[in-house]
Amino acid sequence: MPKYRILLTGSAGAVGKAISPALIASGHYVRGFDIVKTPNLEDSHVGSVSDMKAIDNAMDSMDTLIHLGAEPNDCDFMTRLLPSNIVGTYNVMDSAKRHKLRRVILASSMQVVSGLWKKNDLPMKIEHGTAPVNHYGVTKIFAEALGQMYSINFGLSVIAVRIGWFTRTPKEAQQMASSEWSQNIFLSHNDACRYFINAVEAENITFIILPATSKCKTRQMFDLEPARQAIGYEPQDTFPEGLPFKIN
Ligand SMILES: NC(=O)c1ccc[n+]([C@@H]2O[C@H](COP(=O)([O-])OP(=O)(O)OC[C@H]3O[C@@H](n4cnc5c(N)ncnc54)[C@H](O)[C@@H]3O)[C@@H](O)[C@H]2O)c1
Repeated sequence: MPKYRILLTGSAGAVGKAISPALIASGHYVRGFDIVKTPNLEDSHVGSVSDMKAIDNAMDSMDTLIHLGAEPNDCDFMTRLLPSNIVGTYNVMDSAKRHKLRRVILASSMQVVSGLWKKNDLPMKIEHGTAPVNHYGVTKIFAEALGQMYSINFGLSVIAVRIGWFTRTPKEAQQMASSEWSQNIFLSHNDACRYFINAVEAENITFIILPATSKCKTRQMFDLEPARQAIGYEPQDTFPEGLPFKIN
């Protein structure tokens, strides 16, 4: 019997494709959900998170949600961020509540604090607050707040994960190679797998926001101690370790 039955939105995306085999190898069942076909999962649904019926259908018989399906960068608010990141996040949270899920893991972003870099001493801590510099960052603060509200009001166990920079392609990794600053917010593919497995399996979580990076190259940007304590996450990679591709 698989340990947990996970609905993974954004399963055809970079993070989704990286973590799904690792979750399965850890004994979990994974059902994908994405607006495009998911290549590497036997069980996957094609649909938009903005469609509540499609989400309800995919949530059936699941006990855990990893919600990655979203616009992953700043873009037009009304036509793209609103349906995918705002309505979509409402839909998955409300469906998770009605399906009585045991755990929800929401993809947030370091971009919720982009406006704080110059004001705070490093490493940055969750208690430093938020300061978005674009609409995308605002949608991720919405996701964090919605997760907290569903935890307080409806008892859902929610982890909002502020992902650093998970380089999706060799080209992105190449960009990172030329920026020491970026290497300090690197999240390797292998550390991401370890992170999400731990987030699924951790016990005794009501609501928590946690950062997700690998080991910093030169300077600790984010305080990873809360992730160690809450889910037992120990980063193992330093850029460019833990990538599935070579960079020049
Ligand atoms: N990669 C990073 O560095 C990074 C950093 C911070 C946060 N994140 C967050 O992590 C998540 C995954 O990012 P990624 O890097 O894998 O991006 P990605 O673009 O590779 O994957 C996102 C996936 O979501 C799907 N999607 C988009 N809109 C959808 C909708 N309306 N309905 C269903 N599926 C939809 C896309 O088809 C895609 O497969 C996103 O929520 C992103 O905001 C990523």
